[in-house]
Amino acid sequence: MTTALKLEHISKTIGKKQILHDISFETYAGEVFGFLGPNGAGKTTTIKIIVGLLCLDEGAITVCGTALKNHFEKAMQNIGGIVENPEMYKYLTGMQNLRQYARMRGNVSQKRIDEVVEMVGLSNRIHEKVGHYSLGMRQRLGVAQSILHHPKVLILDEPTNGLDPAGIKELRDILKNLAHKEGVGVLVSSHLMSEMEMMCDRVGIIAEGKLIGVQTVEELISTSSGGKTGFVFTVSDVPRALELIAGLNQEATRLDGRRFQVALPSGETDEPVSAICAKLIGAGIGLYGAAPMENKKLEDVFIALTETGGKQIG
Ligand SMILES: Nc1ncnc2c1ncn2[C@@H]1O[C@H](COP(=O)(O)OP(=O)(O)O)[C@@H](O)[C@H]1O
Ligand SMILES: [Mg+2]
Repeated sequence: MTTALKLEHISKTIGKKQILHDISFETYAGEVFGFLGPNGAGKTTTIKIIVGLLCLDEGAITVCGTALKNHFEKAMQNIGGIVENPEMYKYLTGMQNLRQYARMRGNVSQKRIDEVVEMVGLSNRIHEKVGHYSLGMRQRLGVAQSILHHPKVLILDEPTNGLDPAGIKELRDILKNLAHKEGVGVLVSSHLMSEMEMMCDRVGIIAEGKLIGVQTVEELISTSSGGKTGFVFTVSDVPRALELIAGLNQEATRLDGRRFQVALPSGETDEPVSAICAKLIGAGIGLYGAAPMENKKLEDVFIALTETGGKQIG
């Protein structure tokens, strides 16, 4: 895997307050990396440092192998991003805005402009005035603008804030495409876990200026459940069923008058489920259903992880 961004031991103090404490992580080309944390965690501060809007006190950042400190301009050539709301002229069309921006950037062909418009799905609205755009469309135009110069790294700070579910899905698909098809290393921050879960390949969790962990979304969810999947059985006679299950050396927990749960190794549930069903049916117990419990969501994991730091987060 090719490293896109590399942060090593980043710390930042503003005034008397230390805002970031020794943050280190890497993102890869071709992945959507989620930077997840509650409001005030330090996401924007970290992102501002990466895009050069704030200087860093300690640590080092490299962008596609180029050190930000020593080769700022070269490193910046590989970065595209939106930190605050994208700057747009409302009285110009989307296309005019992009051309304007392309002129400032220099070296951007009309072919490339058309290409990015297509990528963000604005082809049929690009000649309308930006003032008539929805927030979602403006956000997508912002993405188009920030990838005009073919950056290898795209950084977006809470890009889905204020978008409706349809707008979020559109943006999510665009960012996934950019990463998975174009090989861009995408970094998005968010305070919404459910969103990160759907959008990202890996997630780094930050709370109170400290990085708590970096894992794939799947890893995060399975670590928290201890590698077990809960299977729920609905039966006619729970007490008798539990006795029979005990004979199979499985640990079962009664849920209510009709249901009990068995914890089975994730990914290896077929055999034990089949054995349990056979046992129940063989004993004449009515078996009305058998289904895995819904996986623990990232949201629960997030709360569990941040609570291990001893603090409740908002
Ligand atoms: N310019 C600043 N001066 C003082 N404190 C700041 C400044 N910018 C951010 N902070 C503080 O740093 C912490 C992290 O803020 P921020 O990076 O914006 O968090 P997030 O983007 O995760 O919500 C917050 O406690 C915030 O109040
Ligand atoms: Mg922020």
